[in-house]
Amino acid sequence: MSHENYAPELTDAYALQTPQDNVDLYSRWSSTYDSGFAQEMDYQLPANVAAIFLEMSEGAAPILDVGAGTGLLVERMDRAFAGDIDALDISAEMLAVAAEKSLYRKTIVGDLTRTLPIENNTYKAAISSGTFTHGHVGPDGLDELMRIAAPGALFVLSVNAKHYKERGFEEKFRSLAPQIENFTIRPVRNYGDRADGEHRLDMGNVVTFKKR
Ligand SMILES: C[S@@+](CC[C@H](N)C(=O)[O-])C[C@H]1O[C@@H](n2cnc3c(N)ncnc32)[C@H](O)[C@@H]1O
Repeated sequence: MSHENYAPELTDAYALQTPQDNVDLYSRWSSTYDSGFAQEMDYQLPANVAAIFLEMSEGAAPILDVGAGTGLLVERMDRAFAGDIDALDISAEMLAVAAEKSLYRKTIVGDLTRTLPIENNTYKAAISSGTFTHGHVGPDGLDELMRIAAPGALFVLSVNAKHYKERGFEEKFRSLAPQIENFTIRPVRNYGDRADGEHRLDMGNVVTFKKR
């Protein structure tokens, strides 16, 4: 199957098991992710995370977009914080699509399940849409984000609502309680009214908090 025509189902994305599975799938999906998946599913999660971040941001920068993919979250920020946002992703091909949009200060290839190539206390904010979900990044990915976030850093991260409890996110945030404050959860729709298929009504929990 050629890369141009590769159009996985969401079921394929949820069935991923390892970081290498993610590298393989997203390297083939990168060229059709925006025009295929995001258009066809009326993908609203990036816009929902962007709106919550902009409401809470109070100028917090620099910002890391975690699992940035092709950059849809920052595209929905309408050039707010332009030049102050870095993109992190395990897929160099997804980041190459994002880089073409000139939305980011720089792109960083890194695996959230391992040590990231980023210094301690670097970012004043971390934003993420669609990355903390089944088959992608689990709750332990939050440990590296806490390390690279500066004290007082704002986090605005979506976590797939269906997997929030069963994949251990609820328990993880409970264990992080001594290190974080102002914790909130806001339910949002992942997809808009034009979506169809079994995932059309999927919800995200947008989790917000500050590192103490
Ligand atoms: C569903 S896409 C979301 C992309 C973008 N944020 C959006 O909302 O369109 C999930 C992204 O997470 C990335 N990803 C998966 N596992 C990762 C890992 N271990 N470390 C960093 N990024 C990862 C994938 O490469 C992919 O770009």
